[in-house]
Amino acid sequence: MLIRKPADLRYSDVTPKSIYQNRRRFLSSSLGVAGAGIVGAWALSPNAFATTKIAGTVKGPFNTDEKLTPKEDITTYNNYYEFGTGKDEPARNAHTLRTSPWQVQVAGLVGKAKTFDLDAIMKIAPLEERIYRHRCVERWSIVVPWIGFPLAALLKQVEPNSKAKYVAFQTLHDPKQMPLGGQAGIQLPYVEGLRIDEAMHPLALLAVGLYGETLPNQNGAPIRLVVPWKYGFKSIKSIVKITLTESMPPTTWNITNAREYGFYSNVNPEVDHPRWSQATERRLGELFMKKTVKFNGYGEQVASLYTGMDLRKNY
Ligand code: MTE
Repeated sequence: MLIRKPADLRYSDVTPKSIYQNRRRFLSSSLGVAGAGIVGAWALSPNAFATTKIAGTVKGPFNTDEKLTPKEDITTYNNYYEFGTGKDEPARNAHTLRTSPWQVQVAGLVGKAKTFDLDAIMKIAPLEERIYRHRCVERWSIVVPWIGFPLAALLKQVEPNSKAKYVAFQTLHDPKQMPLGGQAGIQLPYVEGLRIDEAMHPLALLAVGLYGETLPNQNGAPIRLVVPWKYGFKSIKSIVKITLTESMPPTTWNITNAREYGFYSNVNPEVDHPRWSQATERRLGELFMKKTVKFNGYGEQVASLYTGMDLRKNY
């Protein structure tokens, strides 16, 4: 993420996979039958992970009616450094992640600490489809039909006590399943955090699926956070631990480069990244840059969380 500046991004970094795969298909068809077989087979199945349909979801609130980003792009253009730092690497490498059995331990400043297995997680609240915008700090964005439930529903089950001011999240850390993690240039496990009122906000989602199916590994299976008004790096993947704390928890990109990545990291076109402007973004699959909207367009819902704060200082 911070390792290359946008000016250094490769073609495959800034181009949706479907576009450069089409280019490969075009190239393969002009290479003759043998070449076409090899390149074509790769192009058609880079992403053959087992996902299963999720039935019985209900339509959730806050849905945008903007055009959905094709599933192919959402699942092949990823940031998941534990599986490689290139955008196409997680889709190729994350098959080594074992997502079952899986447990999420929820502890800290709570009345009823609890460890949830996957079956229990799926029953915490009715599963909703929520169509959210997702804006990466690197200036690309997507529109995703997530399946999930409010983070608040899980937190209420463990009864946070009055000292709990923050919620800390942790991704699985297993070098055997994530052998490329050691080359990621970030300290692992990946960790993130929210203030408790942010975590309790009805927009904050724990996602278990997208496009009607369980999450592909590269998108953070089996359970990840989605905080659509913040830059994408806050939306931590493959969560194994949630801890309620009194003080602000450390977060991966802030540990890596505190000058460039703050704890809050709300989407804000008025505050540039120290190395690039945040005024515009590229929606994957679209040619032209578009204007970035403050709080990624969710200001009506979340701006009041930050009353009295100098948002310029909370990059
Ligand atoms: N979570 C973990 N564990 N590791 C990561 O590298 N990358 C973050 C976030 N969550 C990341 C992570 C970043 S920078 C972004 S933009 C989003 O995941 C990307 O989510 P997506 O690949 O599903 O679009």
